[in-house]
Amino acid sequence: MTVTPVITSTEDAAVILRSGGIVGLPTETVYGLAAVATDHTAVARVFGSKGRPNDHPLIVHVDSIEMASRFGLMNDTARRLAGAHWPGPLTLLLERTPLAGDDITGGRDTVAVRMPRHPMALSVITLCGEGLVAPSANKFGHVSPTTAAHVLHDLDGLIDAVLDGGPCSVGVESTIVDCTETLQILRPGAITAADVERSTGRTVDTTRGPSRAPGMLASHYAPDARVHLVASDEEARRLMAELSAVGRTAVVIGVGLDITEYAATLYEMMRRADDAGASDIVAVDPPGSGLEAAVSDRLRKAAADTGR
Ligand code: TXA
Ligand code: MG
Repeated sequence: MTVTPVITSTEDAAVILRSGGIVGLPTETVYGLAAVATDHTAVARVFGSKGRPNDHPLIVHVDSIEMASRFGLMNDTARRLAGAHWPGPLTLLLERTPLAGDDITGGRDTVAVRMPRHPMALSVITLCGEGLVAPSANKFGHVSPTTAAHVLHDLDGLIDAVLDGGPCSVGVESTIVDCTETLQILRPGAITAADVERSTGRTVDTTRGPSRAPGMLASHYAPDARVHLVASDEEARRLMAELSAVGRTAVVIGVGLDITEYAATLYEMMRRADDAGASDIVAVDPPGSGLEAAVSDRLRKAAADTGR
């Protein structure tokens, strides 16, 4: 029996949030765990329920450039990117304003903001009249949720409601672009480096300094099963046969999928493998620089955590 109610009304979600609650919220990328960004008590509950370290900063979700400007400095680059890709799976890293508290920025001088494309998310933000923090609604380090059921799997009983908006269409988290200094992509997503260059007229800096997005380099997005990456469908079939010959129960993912389908179902497939008690996941690592790079990034992080 689930304890946390599944709701379908954006008005109900906004009422809970405005009274200090925390709610699982559908976005086009993954489900977020929302709280009003300026409500320090609610923000603390978001960290607590996820088991997330306090110095991992959160993304503020907004319904307009005006609302984004309350939390961060929308410079020319940020305005171009927002103009071209908002609402959409793009997070902008900006210099923060005093409204962006230390609790949501981890004490940094920057804040991350994004305007999601999911109509229910936008509606809830507008009804709240304030930005909402929304980290992915999973236990810290686990696979991100792409359905309301995934949110309950990780957080049932710990959060006040989950708003069911159906499965997420994109399936991997937003692209994070640092707009404060040189233009850098801190996390690959559906908005690609080529998109960012086209809409800003600037070159993306790919020289890798220390990451400015904490949690980005560590192993993340990890299922329980051990993840093996292979370069082709053929290699996947060969490894599946080898694993089965030694009595392992392996599940294959990514074979025969186009990249949009692969991204949209990646986390669902990882969670299904775990539910089925699979010992191993064999995943095709897609080559390429678009959405492929985002899928590959998540697969590598999942594989990094599974030397267990
Ligand atoms: O697609 C998404 O972005 C989803 C949906 C729910 O909107 N949200 C999401 O949030 O993926 P989360 O908290 O799981 O990941 C946010 C990432 C973190 O890795 C964090 O390090 C980075 O954004 N981040 C946030 N604020 C930052 C800041 N001020 N400086 C550097 N990195 C920041
Ligand atoms: Mg996350």
